[in-house]
Amino acid sequence: MKIKKAVFPVAGLGTRFIPATKAMAKEMLPVVDKPIIQYAVEEAFAAGIEQIIFVTGRGKKALEDHFDRSFEIEHTLKEKGKDDLLKQIQELVPVTGTIVYTRQNQPLGLGHAIWCARDIVGDEPFAVLLADDLIQTDTPVLSEMVKKFDRLRASIAAVMEVDKDQTDKYGILDAQLVEEDIVKINDMVEKPNPEEAPSNLAIIGRYILTPRIFDFLGAKQKGAGGEIQLTDAMRSLLKEQPIFGYKFKGKRFDCGDKVGFQMANLAFALERPDMKNKLLNFIKEIQREM
Ligand code: UTP
Repeated sequence: MKIKKAVFPVAGLGTRFIPATKAMAKEMLPVVDKPIIQYAVEEAFAAGIEQIIFVTGRGKKALEDHFDRSFEIEHTLKEKGKDDLLKQIQELVPVTGTIVYTRQNQPLGLGHAIWCARDIVGDEPFAVLLADDLIQTDTPVLSEMVKKFDRLRASIAAVMEVDKDQTDKYGILDAQLVEEDIVKINDMVEKPNPEEAPSNLAIIGRYILTPRIFDFLGAKQKGAGGEIQLTDAMRSLLKEQPIFGYKFKGKRFDCGDKVGFQMANLAFALERPDMKNKLLNFIKEIQREM
């Protein structure tokens, strides 16, 4: 079965980014000149996704406006003959009807946010993208995962190795390598202390899940941090169905974290020929001064 729908949980409070996130969604913070969310939406469409499901919360209006037409801006750009910009903002608006919004009325956790999309997803496998995990790569992660799903016919999560002292920030796996870039997951635990972590292999914010996950999310069991965790539901799913991990190629930035966000801006800006040299010169200059 083709993966046609992608859920984007964007209802988190973004407390690590206060005050920037007091009245604005963290997903709207720009990396270079694009909001974080736009990178993930482009990744989803490139992977063949046909419907984007945003699970939003309060204060996320700018996100809805971003993916809608702005007649005022279009009109002004047209009058000023700024055709390139006009084309750019017209192209980023998906065909009407391909984006659906639902709301999580309380931020009870990532697992709960995904569960809020259950009726829109229905009885088919679907993707989940956490936009704040921004990945710089030549092989877009979701496209690769869709190919792997076609072959493995089972749930799959993007995984990467993290520093051993960072395990308490991730869902951590007990898993074995079964192919060059695929692990088979035996067990998983959310945010374990380094001493208790079964490995340093962590789940990153890209998933393809079978719809059975909704039954486990619906149990609304609270886990780490008092939140309804996706990892706990995946652990229950694991007792019935295999789940694989895809060791993706590329650099991942946690844009929900202040340092990760700055690194992402630098890394993506350095990819741009119009910015690269100016930035490198600036970096050298401040290094000399330090
Ligand atoms: P985070 O763990 O980054 O939490 O959520 P957060 O609330 O967004 O940010 P901090 O930690 O307070 O700074 C991971 C993903 O899950 C979504 C977030 O929007 C983010 O994409 N999420 C989290 C929800 O949609 N609802 C929730 O209740 C919690």
